Amino acid sequence: SLLSVNVWNEDSSSKNLIPRLQKVKNNYLSMNKYNVTYKGQRNTAKLSPEKLLCQLRDRVNVTMIHGSDGPFNTSEWQLYLPRKNLSQEVGHFRQCAVVSSAGSLKSSHLGPEIDAHDAVLRFNGAPTIGFQNDVGEKTTVRLVNSQLVTVEEQKFLTDTLYNTGILIVWDPAPYHAEIHEWYRKPDYSFFVNYKAYRSRHREQPFYILNPKMQWQLWDILQENSLEEIQPNPPSSGMLGIVIMMTLCDEVNVYEFLPSKRRTDICHYYQRYHDRACTMGAYHPLLFEKNLVKHINQGQNELIYTHGKVTLPGFRNMHC
Ligand code: C5P
Repeated sequence: SLLSVNVWNEDSSSKNLIPRLQKVKNNYLSMNKYNVTYKGQRNTAKLSPEKLLCQLRDRVNVTMIHGSDGPFNTSEWQLYLPRKNLSQEVGHFRQCAVVSSAGSLKSSHLGPEIDAHDAVLRFNGAPTIGFQNDVGEKTTVRLVNSQLVTVEEQKFLTDTLYNTGILIVWDPAPYHAEIHEWYRKPDYSFFVNYKAYRSRHREQPFYILNPKMQWQLWDILQENSLEEIQPNPPSSGMLGIVIMMTLCDEVNVYEFLPSKRRTDICHYYQRYHDRACTMGAYHPLLFEKNLVKHINQGQNELIYTHGKVTLPGFRNMHC
């Protein structure tokens, strides 16, 4: 049927990628920039969705950097870091939406459905103005990468896009790094602009994701894949999904698993074409999507029509 042919196959292998993307993946494997040494168990028999969800809940520690953490426990940092932790700030939500930035959101008319959620997470520079029909206009949390915060051309300090909602920034750390080591040598030197932004927008909550989380999540992705995955951190999309699973009773993810509108257009807000955006190059995105498909509690039909996946919040799981 149309459905079984067109909905994401959770056993997708890198062998089915176009040759260019296979090559990119192999290059990242030999580069191993973050010194990943994990060569641990590989689950040859698939874990049940329930077991996998419990692994995510119990092994991925979603925390934000706090003024009491390691190198951040200075009087200077106390001026910048939010005093309340994230769940104190937001409480907890019933239904949440995670909006990938995929080109397949174009002409989706998903805006009203997305806005009906109690909280909406968006990524990086994804705009709502001009795209309300397809992506909605509510932004409760925006997860941004450290490159966007650091690189001048991205206009992070001046674009009003970033002034709505709670901001969270993440930066890749070495696989074994303690916070201190990462602090001395982050992937991008985003601390300068973090402080500058905090000085200009005192009232807007702005968190730094504890980088330990990336690799706890990566280990689970690797364990549940049948081949070696890119030894790079998970994509913002995957990080955002797990962050919302800690805050919400139910998480609906839009166009992370592509719908019938699947396209090589990278983002709904740009013209740029690159299959890597949907299939992964730097990030182990293919394996993230395999995992998300495996734990989806919604119908395949809704993936096909809405690019929609439904995941339970951690607090509602019985492990
Ligand atoms: O490109 P960017 O990282 O800002 O997009 C946000 C997230 O949306 C990605 O990290 C990825 O998980 C997801 N995405 C996708 N397919 C695309 C574009 C983005 O799955 N074509």
